[in-house]
Amino acid sequence: MPTPWPYPRWVAHRGAGKLAPENTLAAFRLGASHGYRMFECDVKLSADGVPFLMHDAELDRTTSGHGIGGEQTWQALAQLDAGSWHSRTYAGEPLPTLGNVARFCLRNAYFLNIEIKPTPGQDRDTGTAVAREAQRLWQGASGHPLLSSFRVEALHAALAAAPALPRALLLDTLPPDWLAQARELQCAAVVCNYRLWNADTVAQARAAGLRTLSYTVNEEAAAQALLALGTDAIITDRVDLFAPA
Ligand code: G3P
Ligand code: MG
Repeated sequence: MPTPWPYPRWVAHRGAGKLAPENTLAAFRLGASHGYRMFECDVKLSADGVPFLMHDAELDRTTSGHGIGGEQTWQALAQLDAGSWHSRTYAGEPLPTLGNVARFCLRNAYFLNIEIKPTPGQDRDTGTAVAREAQRLWQGASGHPLLSSFRVEALHAALAAAPALPRALLLDTLPPDWLAQARELQCAAVVCNYRLWNADTVAQARAAGLRTLSYTVNEEAAAQALLALGTDAIITDRVDLFAPA
């Protein structure tokens, strides 16, 4: 039976792209103010196993901290400023936990795409912990989060930990066995670099029962081409350019 697909066509990358500090609740709120009802975010583990939002392995680019985020406890990470790097408006914005974001999405009936983004060397543990936490947080809710990752081992762990949560394989290039990999992971979707989609690859994915998503689409012409191909969803930074229908 195909996995239910309740997700909207437009997804705000890291909350609101570059318009607000990525992967913060402030970004989600800004994305929502532009009409977005689904958000992508990157999730990894603190040293004491708390799933939290951050893209890079290192803290330096997007927070007031230094070094590897996954080597610090949640208590230490919670003290950091994840907004000042972006602009004064967001000074003091904290790093959110997956729990913080789940509450925001559930209370507002928003959908979430959780990209499992392990600290290097932690693929399996991160896949297991994030899937378990997502299952707990969305227990009994409609509109489960979509778990995606470039890391096959993390998706295998997520499948083992929470088989009922939908999964998507993230691909920046198409290896010869991309469909076999997605099938083995019992994925509902593949999320590709948008340049990989054409009539042939879309048809192959569809024939394999997979939904077709793209990242990160910031230009009108690319978005139009993907819509014309009939792909299922588009992840964008440009929440100010593309208005979700
Ligand atoms: O999940 C889609 C996209 O976010 C993947 O790339 O590096 O922006 O996390 P990245
Ligand atoms: Mg991401």
